[in-house]
Amino acid sequence: MLLELLLLLLPSDPVWQSFSDWFSREGIPGAPADVLKAYSSTLTSQGTSAATAEAAVKQVQAYLTAHPREALTLHFNRIYAWTEAPFSREPSAFLKKVAATRRPGRALDIAMGQGRNSIYLAKAGWTVSGYDISDEALRQAARLAAEAGITLDTKLASHDEYDLGQAQWDLIVMSFAFTRLSDEAYMKRVHDSLKPGGVLLVEGFNGGPRPEPNMILKAFLSYHVLVFEDLPDVADWGRIKAPLLRMALEKK
Ligand SMILES: C[S@@+](CC[C@H](N)C(=O)[O-])C[C@H]1O[C@@H](n2cnc3c(N)ncnc32)[C@H](O)[C@@H]1O
Repeated sequence: MLLELLLLLLPSDPVWQSFSDWFSREGIPGAPADVLKAYSSTLTSQGTSAATAEAAVKQVQAYLTAHPREALTLHFNRIYAWTEAPFSREPSAFLKKVAATRRPGRALDIAMGQGRNSIYLAKAGWTVSGYDISDEALRQAARLAAEAGITLDTKLASHDEYDLGQAQWDLIVMSFAFTRLSDEAYMKRVHDSLKPGGVLLVEGFNGGPRPEPNMILKAFLSYHVLVFEDLPDVADWGRIKAPLLRMALEKK
């Protein structure tokens, strides 16, 4: 039993390998259940028996649960490699509006993706650093930066790995950044890393009804709230109309 479990979790497991090869080549990123259903259909259409396909899907599911970071990287690498992926390659309009009100300095782009916002800032005179867990995203950002003749300081890292530092950023961008605003320890690190007078820009999906009114706003009252908006709009990611949260917060 223990040996079976160990085998299930090995990165070199051929079942995992063939799933990740298939997904990287032709998977449609989406909810895990939908992806696994599509994989099962692919296997059976190639002549695999239903029972073997079901066993493979179970193994892949266990692997994904045991390796959340690898799962996220695979998911986002595929999104960035997939040319029809529904996200905007243009900089965020909200970022453009806020950045135009600030003097360029040092900016950090959290979960920067393929660099649409980093590149905009660097072209506008900011010195930009950024990180992401997708190596494909960073490859594309480096290519786009070279084409634009600008330099970005990028790092392959997750939110818990990247050293945000202390009082060093004039602007921090969290645009659809897969961070949790309720993660107090991380949000404190973000706050500590901003210079006094620096701005934290947040843009993303609003996670749904809150147990109390103004809960998010209250959590950020240690900042000078420059912008707080909680309205439906077309999201740069997914290109769907959805409740979006947009904040620009100046550190006191
Ligand atoms: C929806 S995309 C947004 C990308 C970019 N900020 C933009 O607005 O275009 C989310 C990004 O978060 C990255 N990501 C997801 N989880 C992460 C984590 N734990 N640490 C670092 N980056 C992460 C993904 O690789 C992806 O590039």
